[in-house]
Formats: sequence, structure tokens, C-alpha cells
Amino acid sequence: MPEGVVYIDGEFVSPNDAKISVFDHGLLYGDGVFEGIRFYNGRIFKLAEHVDRLFASAEKIGLTVPCSKEEFAQLVLKTTAKSGLHDGYLRPLVTRGSGDLGLDPRKSKKSSIVIICSTINLYGSKHETGLNAIVASVRRTPPSSLNPNIKSLNYLNNILAKSEANVKGADEAIILDQEGYVAEASADNIFAVKGGVVYTPPTVTNLVGITRGTILDISKGTYETRVERFKVDFLLKADEVFITGTGGEVAGVVEIDGQKIGVGVPGPVTKDLQKKYFALVRSTGVPIPSAGNNGH
Ligand SMILES: Cc1ncc(COP(=O)(O)O)c(C=O)c1O
Repeated sequence: MPEGVVYIDGEFVSPNDAKISVFDHGLLYGDGVFEGIRFYNGRIFKLAEHVDRLFASAEKIGLTVPCSKEEFAQLVLKTTAKSGLHDGYLRPLVTRGSGDLGLDPRKSKKSSIVIICSTINLYGSKHETGLNAIVASVRRTPPSSLNPNIKSLNYLNNILAKSEANVKGADEAIILDQEGYVAEASADNIFAVKGGVVYTPPTVTNLVGITRGTILDISKGTYETRVERFKVDFLLKADEVFITGTGGEVAGVVEIDGQKIGVGVPGPVTKDLQKKYFALVRSTGVPIPSAGNNGH
């Protein structure tokens, strides 16, 4: 059983007892939104940014979150405190709620809030050795069909790409947009380093990642950063490639479709940014009230 605690519509329950209705439109139709948040050393990293993005996603699908942003942030803090964990991962969800069958959102009368506080392990020791990736044949859903900044409960586009990586024995999938430009990885943003310059695509076809923003901030002052579109050949010729995400953190990509990137190990810029990122997440954030952290 996963460790931690789960908040569901006013109640805190153990992961084993955390259940929602099969009539929830989040389950039936993927009608809902979510966030992925990490906490380190008894502090929640970028809590306000994640709550803002959750509410923005909800607004984009006309979903009313049944509390204010401040109340939501407090609920996240309370759930984390109840878990007793000092390091872990949070998965807040707002679903359309349960309602009769039929995808019309009006069939659900009240949205549901779920906050899972547990742990996550994505790349483990690959943070040191780097990941190998494939370029997925499935393309990113175009923004004209679905705004990539709606972090919705329907991740099939990303899951199909990830499954392709699994079948090919790769750690990750790089997803291209409809025009063949690099969009992102399955649940991470992507960066390339060439000639000491740090590149990442604009967020027209991918999520405005909070880790992406943090990495751009950390880079400034040390590296030139450029937000511009590029294709796979640019990645293949880059000195370094890395991906960023709350769950995956900062991880080097050392091989794409069987071709080595640079010399085939995480490069110096990736390692420098990874180190600075880990230092930042471990020393900042909103203190969890009863996690024995006085906030200093
Ligand atoms: C599709 C997608 N892209 C990028 C990211 C990285 O975003 P963040 O750094 O905010 O976790 C995520 C993670 O949530 C994601 O699901």
C-alpha cells in the first residue's frame, strides 16, 4: 500500500480507504484537473504557483473549485502535515464530481477535491547516469484541439508516447508538435545546451512547467538562455539535453533514438543546474506546520 494520507471532500483517509465514486466524471470522462507538487525537508516547493496553475486549469474547463486559493493551499498544507512525511509528492485533483452518465458537465452538481500526499520515484539513479529517450511517433495534441496548459485528467496523448518508450526499452519519450518541432517529454519540459547557451521551446504546444521556469531563473546570470523552437536534429547535435518536471526533477538525456548526445553522459551544464535546483528545493518553500520545521 502506498504511504501517506489522502484528503477527499472534507475527510482525511489512509491511502487504502481513499475511494471515489465510479460515477465521478473525472473517472468517466477525464473531466477534471490536477497538479503534481513536491515537498522537501518539510517545505512545499512553489505551493502558490501550483495552486495558481490548478485554478487556472479549472477555469479553462469551466470547473468551479469549491474553495478559495488560500483555502486550497491550507488544505494542501494540512494534508501534508497529517501524512507525517517530510519529503514526498502531492497530487491535488479537482474532478467534475459524480453525476449521471453522459458527458455533459452539468450532470455533476458539485466538483470534488482530492489531495493525495504520498511519495514518488521516477528516475532514481538515472539522475546521475542520464536517461535514454525515443522520439515518439504520436504527436502532441495541437493547441487548437486542447490547450496544453489545461493540466487535465486526460493524459492519453502523453501515455501513448510513454508506452512507445516502454516498448522500445527507453526511459522517456520526446513528443513533437504537429509541425515537427520538439514540444516536451511525456510529463516534463525539455532543454538543450549548445555552445554554453541553454535553449527550451516556447510553451505554445507544451505545459508552462514550474520546474522549467525555475531552471530558466537559475540559469540567468550564469548562462545565456533562449526560448525558441527547434527540431530533433538540433537535439541530436546539442552538447547536452535535459528534461525538467516536478516529479522527474532535472535529468540529463544522454541518448535519443540510439544516438549519443554529446559524449553520452550528463554534461556539466545539466549537472550544474541539477545541483542548483536540488539546493533550491531543499532550502525554500512553504513550511509544513507540524513537520517540525520552523521555516528557517
Ligand atoms: C505534460 C507535462 N509537461 C511538463 C511538465 C512539467 O511541469 P512542472 O515542472 O510544473 O511539474 C508536466 C508535469 O506536470 C507535464 O505533465
